[in-house]
Amino acid sequence: MGRDPPSSSDGSLSWHCIFHAPRMITNDTRHASGVLARRSREHRPAWSGPPWRALHRNVGIARICIGGPMEDKPSHGAEPLKLRDVTDAMRRMSAAIETGHRCFRAITDGRGTALAVLAPDGHFVSVNHGAARLLGYTGAELIGRSLADMADDGDRAWIVDCLAASISCTLRSFNVVLHGRDNREASVLLHFQPVMDGRGNCSAVLVIFEEPVVLQQGLVDALMRSEADFRRLYTHLLTGQEHERKRLSSELHDGLGQALTLVKLMVEDALGRMRHGSAEQAESLLETTLLRIRETIGEVRHICNDLRPRLLDDLGLVPALEALCKQTQQCTGNLLVVFDCRIVENEVPDNLKADIFRIAQEAINNIIKHALATEINIVLRRAAKDILLTIQDNGIGFDDLSGSPDGPTFSGLGLLGMRERVESNGGSFALTSGEGSGTLVSAAWRV
Ligand SMILES: Nc1ncnc2c1ncn2[C@@H]1O[C@H](COP(=O)(O)OP(=O)(O)OP(=O)(O)O)[C@@H](O)[C@H]1O
Ligand SMILES: [Mg+2]
Repeated sequence: MGRDPPSSSDGSLSWHCIFHAPRMITNDTRHASGVLARRSREHRPAWSGPPWRALHRNVGIARICIGGPMEDKPSHGAEPLKLRDVTDAMRRMSAAIETGHRCFRAITDGRGTALAVLAPDGHFVSVNHGAARLLGYTGAELIGRSLADMADDGDRAWIVDCLAASISCTLRSFNVVLHGRDNREASVLLHFQPVMDGRGNCSAVLVIFEEPVVLQQGLVDALMRSEADFRRLYTHLLTGQEHERKRLSSELHDGLGQALTLVKLMVEDALGRMRHGSAEQAESLLETTLLRIRETIGEVRHICNDLRPRLLDDLGLVPALEALCKQTQQCTGNLLVVFDCRIVENEVPDNLKADIFRIAQEAINNIIKHALATEINIVLRRAAKDILLTIQDNGIGFDDLSGSPDGPTFSGLGLLGMRERVESNGGSFALTSGEGSGTLVSAAWRV
């Protein structure tokens, strides 16, 4: 079963906004079913409303002219349609489109919107160039024709249904296939907005014909490429997350779990010995247990530190980076690590601190693992409105494939993770490396 077409009512946006409404057909707006309020085509009353003299657009902004003498009274007894009623309908339509299609992409119709006015029974009363062109007719040729008659068999019901429901004064949108001159097919999203007169009667229906966006091949290729890149990155990230979970799980299981089991056994043993009067043995066992507990506390700290470096919270980013550099130099022995910090702690926004630390950490890990370097230079500084972090080594470098059309082909996750961290916070990431010429990792965030 289908859903009701999206509809909405009041709004106060300026009416010309609708001519900048982006164009998109959503499947959501297509129904599968509905009550067919079919009217007999043969018995349709002739249009007797106010004379719509012209409906046209000019430089992307449509103008509606309601002409003709006011004594041209409609024969059905409704008040003559006023410009105010039409602009009011436009406003409602505009607001409804704006609020009803939040996912619209910002693609506007450079040729102006295809627009028509229908009589309440669905006959064209006025048509602008865009709508006429869409159907392959001139505006004059369309006047008096029935919109429903131009629709696919399956879609006709929707048009008739919406016309019948016009009294509700709400915007209705749905996809239809229309057949124009020489059976030319046009797949469009129709927006129906009833125009109400002062007495609350529907005196006309404004219709916008929204064509699907036709993307140029180049753009399609670019979109598909970026989607493929995104998928690849996303898969890598999921894999990374999965690896991290496994690592944590095995650290908890093999490290913490084993240690706690051992402590439990030792305490049980000590208890048993105490019960059997071997207090001395119990005492020495408990002392060993105490040592184990201390070690376990250290392990928990280690795991927590891996998740979020404590130094960062305790001391701040700059001291944490200093400590990282010092520790790296001490652990490796043959690597000189220079940290050149030209920024004060409170110049760095809090939300960037963990990222900056992790990027430096991963870059240093990579250097230790892959670079065979003897020197690392880390710079954290401010340049105009940016915060810059660079990590340069003098190692063997590698073939940087990040710019190749196939994207990076590494099996590791470190570089991808760094890029993702930086870009997810609105920054830009760059990697420069070449065999024999060392590697430079740089990240910049606008603050
Ligand atoms: N500073 C560097 N010097 C030389 N090669 C590097 C350097 N940094 C990265 N690489 C190369 O880039 C590859 C990708 O690095 P990346 O950090 O993504 O993965 P990894 O370190 O291999 O694994 P992981 O970080 O997932 O544990 C590395 O395998 C290495 O070949
Ligand atoms: Mg790595």
